Amino acid sequence: MNLPTELKQALNAQIGMEFQASYSYLSMAAYFEANSWDGFASWMSMQSDEEREHAMKFYTYLLDRGADIELPALEAPVHQFSSPLAVFESSLEQEKKVTAAINNLYKIAHDSADYATVSFLKWFVDEQVEEEKNVSDMIEKIKRAGENPDALMMLDTLAGNRGPEEE
Ligand code: FEO
Repeated sequence: MNLPTELKQALNAQIGMEFQASYSYLSMAAYFEANSWDGFASWMSMQSDEEREHAMKFYTYLLDRGADIELPALEAPVHQFSSPLAVFESSLEQEKKVTAAINNLYKIAHDSADYATVSFLKWFVDEQVEEEKNVSDMIEKIKRAGENPDALMMLDTLAGNRGPEEE
């Protein structure tokens, strides 16, 4: 079964959204690197790689379904932040937008009775719960650390110990 046009367009748009997220996380990694937060930089760099993997899952799926790839334009990401907390808050905002986009994709696939896409999207629905949780946890920890430099340094070290995600 060919992909319905609306679904094809939305899946192509999602490739762009995932690459945009990857680009944003890379910019956040650069901010942390430039300000000697090596652990946070590593966390963000790993997240940037993950987002590229997400984009490529959509890319491969579209090709597997015989659909054309139409990569959308990307925007320049924000590159200046006021604090580590501001970076993670910006990250959470971004993840919430991605979650809304995935839910919308799921709805389109379901309404189109394209159950192969519904099945494909289930991984992303679960992944977004994890992504929002990881960022929210970090925000809570940074808030708890407050202005205490030792506590923030410990969090930075902790963030640097993040391992690759298991699938
Ligand atoms: Fe691929 Fe963080 O959403």
